[in-house]
Amino acid sequence: MALLIRVSESRLDRGKVSLVSGAAGFLGSHLVDRLLREGHFVVGLDNLLTGSLENLGLALQNRKFLFVPEDLAALPEVHLAGRLDYIWHLASPASPVHYRRHGVETMLVNSLGTKRMLDLAVSCGAAFLLASTSEVYGDPEVHPQPESYWGRVNPNGERACYDESKRFAEALTFEYRRRYGINARVVRIFNTYGPRMQPADGRVVPNLIRQALRGEPFTIYGTGKQTRSFIYVDDLIEGLYRALTWPATDGEVFNLGNPDERSVIDLARVIAALRGVEPRMEFHPLPADDPTRRCPDITRARRVLHWEPRTPLETGLRATINCFMGVCKRHG
Ligand SMILES: NC(=O)c1ccc[n+]([C@@H]2O[C@H](COP(=O)([O-])OP(=O)(O)OC[C@H]3O[C@@H](n4cnc5c(N)ncnc54)[C@H](O)[C@@H]3O)[C@@H](O)[C@H]2O)c1
Repeated sequence: MALLIRVSESRLDRGKVSLVSGAAGFLGSHLVDRLLREGHFVVGLDNLLTGSLENLGLALQNRKFLFVPEDLAALPEVHLAGRLDYIWHLASPASPVHYRRHGVETMLVNSLGTKRMLDLAVSCGAAFLLASTSEVYGDPEVHPQPESYWGRVNPNGERACYDESKRFAEALTFEYRRRYGINARVVRIFNTYGPRMQPADGRVVPNLIRQALRGEPFTIYGTGKQTRSFIYVDDLIEGLYRALTWPATDGEVFNLGNPDERSVIDLARVIAALRGVEPRMEFHPLPADDPTRRCPDITRARRVLHWEPRTPLETGLRATINCFMGVCKRHG
């Protein structure tokens, strides 16, 4: 059945109205909090596949937040009665553990789910942002990766359900822009970390922090010399916010990430130092299609959005470790 979201005018005031898909996830929930602080009325849509209501603890107490527990891929249509200014389409599993477990669901939310959100952008005249990923570059031959690089993705490997469905979502977004003249942009997010990540979601930062807190050796895949760039969540949210609300962003693709490239071993050493422990490493075979280098070229975001990451790795990791200590206490 089609979904009709109704928001009574009395709750809207005169502020902007935003819809965030994937609102209960790691990034979605931080974005919701930011938009509420900016005075937006926020509709948060999520089926809680990989997200949690706990992340929306603050938002759920706010009268300018409406939570809609729906599966975007299963809805034939989404309508909204009233005004809608912005659509932030973040719904999709993001960690390798999650998208391997939910491969088909990942492909459906990035294809059918993206279509639902684009149709809503057409019918409401809302500006649209697609949360894409650095994974569209696959295992790149170009370093750092500029937005103009087309990528090197294995189309039927274990990561293809995520990489290729995000590439499809990007193509669909630009096809809708050409056909219907919607105001749309794509943001390619690089590894982001911070409070509210799930300790067991399989990504490298939570893995290593969890192991440091338990006094276990660090699991390092391959030689650990493969690089990643880690951006703190507050910096990423600032970039997302500018990419959709600033002028001259329609039709753009932006890399949002930290050009401070670090090897996985280096990251493990920093986490060990913050915990005041000796780093002990346990080496395991590299998973299939794991990229060897990952580093964004953020020239365009610097120029158009006047944006760059500001949080030093040590500061961001300290905040994340503190949060994980809280989580660990809560879950015994
Ligand atoms: N966190 C990162 O480092 C990173 C990097 C690159 C791209 N991204 C992108 O950012 C977005 C958010 O990532 P995240 O880290 O917050 O992931 P997350 O798994 O924490 O959040 C995704 C949210 O989407 C929801 N969702 C999934 N399928 C849905 C469906 N069919 N209908 C409604 N809701 C659905 C989940 O329940 C979850 O709350 C994703 O699109 C991801 O691809 C994130």
